[in-house]
Amino acid sequence: MKFFIDTADLDDIRDLAATGMVDGVTTNPSLVAKTGRSFLEVVEEIAGIVDGPVSAECVATDFETMLKEGEKLAAIADNIAVKVPLTVDGLKTCKALSDKGVMVNVTLCFSAAQALLAAKAGAAFISPFVGRLDDVGQDGMELIADICQIYAQYDFDTEVLVASVRGPQHVVMAAKLGADVATVPPKVLRQLYGHPLTDKGLDAFLADWKKTGQTIL
Ligand code: G3P
Repeated sequence: MKFFIDTADLDDIRDLAATGMVDGVTTNPSLVAKTGRSFLEVVEEIAGIVDGPVSAECVATDFETMLKEGEKLAAIADNIAVKVPLTVDGLKTCKALSDKGVMVNVTLCFSAAQALLAAKAGAAFISPFVGRLDDVGQDGMELIADICQIYAQYDFDTEVLVASVRGPQHVVMAAKLGADVATVPPKVLRQLYGHPLTDKGLDAFLADWKKTGQTIL
C-alpha cells in the first residue's frame, strides 16, 4: 500500500519524505491557500522533493479551460498528476489528458457510480473522500469496499486513493480493504508510528542496557 501526504507544506513534505514512507503528495486549492504562496511554484518545489506522483488541482469548471490548466500543470514535471473534480467536464478533461499519457486524479468522489465513471475515463487515481462521508453520517469505508470490488471485477487500472483520512484507523481499514493508496495529513502519518507500549518497552530495554555498562560502538 502506498502512502501519499495530503499537504502543500514544504517543511512537512521534506521532513516526512526523509522517513522513506512517502510515495507521493496530494494537494488541493484549500491546502495551497494555507501556504500563502504561488501555486505553480509550490507544486514545482514539491515535484522536486518526491519522486512519486504529486497531485495538482485544476480550478476551472469548464472543459476547455480545465484542459488548458491541466496541460500547464502537467508540463511542470513528469511526476505531476492533474487533479480534476468529479463532474462531467472533469471527466471529459480526465479522458483527454489520460489519452495523452498524463496521470489524472479524479477528486471529490462520493459514490461508487462516480468511481466507475472515473475508471472509464482513464483516471490513474480515484479519490473517494471517506472523512467527509463519515461527517454526514455515511460510511466512508463502505464506499472504499464497493469501489475496490468493482475495480477488481473489471480489472480497471485506476488506483483507489483513499482521501479525507482523519486518523490511523482509516488507514488500517483502507489497507484491510486492499486500497492502493491512502493520502494522509502529516499529523496522521506521524500518528501511525506511535504506540505507548513501544515507548514504554524501549524505556525498559534502555534502562536494563544501562545497567550492563556496555556500549555497542
Ligand atoms: O485532498 C483531498 C482530501 O484529502 C481532503 O480532506 O480533510 O479536507 O476532508 P479533508
